[in-house]
Amino acid sequence: MIYTILPPAYVAHLIHLAYLVSAACFILSLKWLSAVPTARRGVLIGVAGMALAVGGTLLDPTIEHYRYLAVAIVLGAMIGVPMALMPMTAVPQRTALSHAFGALAATLVGAAEYSLRLKSIDHFTMGALSLEVILGGLTITASLMAAGKLQEILPTRPMVFKNQNYVNLSVLGLALVIGGYLVFNPGAWLLFPVMVLLCLLFGVLLIMPIGGADMPTVLALLNSYAGLSASMMGFVLNNKLLIIAGALDGSSGLILSIIMCRAMNRSFSNVLFGAFGQVQVSAEAVEQKNYRSASAEEAADLLRTADSVVIVPGYGMAVAQAQHKVRELFDLLTKQGTKVTFAIHPVAGRMPGHMNVLLAEADIPYDNLLEMDDVNPEFPQTDVALVIGANDVTNPAARHDKSSPIYGMPILDVDKARTVMVIKRSMNPGFAGIDNELYYMDRTLMLFGDAKGFVGDLVKALPGD
Ligand code: TAP
Repeated sequence: MIYTILPPAYVAHLIHLAYLVSAACFILSLKWLSAVPTARRGVLIGVAGMALAVGGTLLDPTIEHYRYLAVAIVLGAMIGVPMALMPMTAVPQRTALSHAFGALAATLVGAAEYSLRLKSIDHFTMGALSLEVILGGLTITASLMAAGKLQEILPTRPMVFKNQNYVNLSVLGLALVIGGYLVFNPGAWLLFPVMVLLCLLFGVLLIMPIGGADMPTVLALLNSYAGLSASMMGFVLNNKLLIIAGALDGSSGLILSIIMCRAMNRSFSNVLFGAFGQVQVSAEAVEQKNYRSASAEEAADLLRTADSVVIVPGYGMAVAQAQHKVRELFDLLTKQGTKVTFAIHPVAGRMPGHMNVLLAEADIPYDNLLEMDDVNPEFPQTDVALVIGANDVTNPAARHDKSSPIYGMPILDVDKARTVMVIKRSMNPGFAGIDNELYYMDRTLMLFGDAKGFVGDLVKALPGD
């Protein structure tokens, strides 16, 4: 249509310009997304970049039937809109489904290009196409498995069998050998579906031995694979924007998984093969030690007299959706003149930035959020450290107990505060499955209850006289 208004050469320039600006938007988006104050701007420019990319693609002169595209867009929106409305706690599984769809698109495009260009495809393009389909295929099933484990539709425990790693690597190795063979013999088309099936199988095998709780880290890796698959698709279709966007996706996913592994003091191999979260605490060991508990009124008395309070949110705050009650508590304490800050551990919760997102949702001012390295020196001068549903990220065993699975993980030095109060429902362990020695310190008070309910009780009790 547009060719009736503009000459084809102009349209080609327009498409390139749209792609160039769109690539710049994606780069800026990643830059802005990496800091809390600019994150919203990062999302908006990312959306603008994507709209521009889709708009530019729709101008492509090789598109013959817009009605098929319209059907695809409507179908995509029908799936995408409900997915976007899923609750915050379901974001990891929603992300896994997005990766599965992205990888499915890349694999289908790869298969379509292969069948269309079977007789004329060159070695380089066939190499890129093989990689696109291998990465895409394994990401489809691995992401679906990850979503199933996160949603607890599939068993969350690691599923292991004898010689598992050898079997897994053999399946992947065979797919890679077939991919390599196809580069030099693209006409051997019967091998193409075999390669796809092997990759789909590898995706299932890859996730089987990984526990549900490790899925967020694995998701960052799958994000990287889906991005690399899209980048390869860019080489196949000779689309520079896809190459750039896929490379950004691939590298940012990899960097994110490295950051998460470092913050948990774990290696990739430990995440992929470590079956973490399986340590069981003996009930006896827990019962033998003494701890002190307190009521909401007693805790409110302590908060009323505190000059400084550091709130340490964790996974329990997310589960209880207690962030709005926490905001009310923040307002009350601030009003009475108490200095209140929030200590943010990089892997508190179950996804990167989990605490930042929840606290931003409750409009807690960004300036009151302190990263681990900034807040740790503050704890010795803090009157009350109020831990809300956080566990592993506060466990002092990480500093000194070499036998602990979290040994070496950087933690929030909550135990150095003058008084520690911990809101959780029981003495049960957190993600790592281990007991927390913080709970048995003389200065610690356990506040048993659901985070939302207990913080609500604190809010009611605080105004006092
Ligand atoms: P956890 O160590 O998992 O502890 C969360 C605590 O919240 C539990 O001990 C639980 O105790 C309590 N809780 C659960 N529901 C609650 C509710 N409704 N009200 C009050 N408390 C509740 O969490 P954390 O300290 O945030 O540490 C995160 C862990 O996840 C780390 O080990 C980290 O390595 C791991 N991890 C994080 C990520 C990312 S990216 N964030 C990714 C993978 C793994 P009760 O059952 O007694 O209430």
